Amino acid sequence: MIKKQLLGVLIAAAVAAPALAADQSVEVLHWWTSGGEAAALNVLKGNLEKEGIKWNDMPVAGGGGEAAMTAVRARVTAGNPPTAVQMLGFDIQDWAKQGVLADLNAVAAREGWDKSVPAALQRFSKYNGKWIAAPVNVHSTNWVWANKAVLDKVGIKNPPASFDEFIADGEAVQKAGFIAIAHGGQPWQEATVFDSIVLTTGGIDFYKKALVDLDPKALGSPTMEKVFHRMGQIRKLVDKDFSGRDWNVASGMVISGKAAFQIMGDWAKGEFINAKKVPGKDFLCFRFPGTQGMVSFNSDQFAMFKVGADKVAAQDKLASAILDPGFQSAFNVVKGSVPARTDVPDTAFDACGKKGIKDLAEASKAGTLVGSMAHGHAEPASIKNAFYDVITRHFNGQIDDRKAVQEMVAAGSN
Ligand code: BGC
Repeated sequence: MIKKQLLGVLIAAAVAAPALAADQSVEVLHWWTSGGEAAALNVLKGNLEKEGIKWNDMPVAGGGGEAAMTAVRARVTAGNPPTAVQMLGFDIQDWAKQGVLADLNAVAAREGWDKSVPAALQRFSKYNGKWIAAPVNVHSTNWVWANKAVLDKVGIKNPPASFDEFIADGEAVQKAGFIAIAHGGQPWQEATVFDSIVLTTGGIDFYKKALVDLDPKALGSPTMEKVFHRMGQIRKLVDKDFSGRDWNVASGMVISGKAAFQIMGDWAKGEFINAKKVPGKDFLCFRFPGTQGMVSFNSDQFAMFKVGADKVAAQDKLASAILDPGFQSAFNVVKGSVPARTDVPDTAFDACGKKGIKDLAEASKAGTLVGSMAHGHAEPASIKNAFYDVITRHFNGQIDDRKAVQEMVAAGSN
């Protein structure tokens, strides 16, 4: 009798085994820890949970993702990669080269990603013809965020149209007793400002030659010296406590009316929205003065790592949820970015989001869309980090314009 019961239990366990074997959870490593970022990520978590997939969160704070990339390295080296990792541009390709990323071609083919994801993103989401990452958005770095009430008080009626006007406005703001530019002194934030200053100073062709082609002539040119001179002008408009400040704290200074402007990618909008601020009424978004018509983009993608067979089904569900058109709209409305698919309507987006979508489409047609150096879409991390180092030491007054230019040439040939 007892034996019979035991047999029954064993048979039940064997029948249940395949269902138990499939791991219905995903572990996701990312650096979305600010209020706006977390709100956006919750959209994805919620959608997956509705499908019965458990979300194991692995946040690694630090804008731009440097700390996150160190954490990924440790996990992969230990032979225990997460299911998916938020990643930027060239980093995805670097991991793909090492043969540790999954093959998403089956999901991509089933859902037609080849047709709906723009080529500028596919260049990073595919390696040797295989989809290895799921793009969640397109951000761009050449934006300025402004507190409308502060501008009204200072008497600034229109967003500055040129670099010189921007500096003049900044000086007027300072005279009126406000901080002109809210800035966080971290290398990636200085590099973000640098993206815009290269564009406004040298234009698209110069940006491409210097930061994408790494042409030593462009890197060592008088135009590059002017770029550093202008970084110095921006430095004078920043408050004395900028060192080490997080980007979202800087956004908070504009939101609260302590500061007039922040030069930052459109993830900053996520902070304004999260604080219930309304574009056009409480804050303004405009392209960095002199870069109208140009877009320096970066795209957050979830690089999918090779995981055990029991985890593949949940990983595929995650990939598919990320590219879902409804999700792409809902997520990007909150995140401040624009969809990574060209077939998502702009209906749900606010004025800044609609502008972002339109600017991206136009720049892509006009050939004025470039990958952001600061956010890993212009060159591999080794060179990007060498540029960061020069830009930051210059911003902190450790080297002058001349020396910075010489060091950029050396950094570009790393
Ligand atoms: C990412 C954004 C993120 C920002 C600040 C950028 O590199 O693309 O998604 O919000 O860093 O953390």
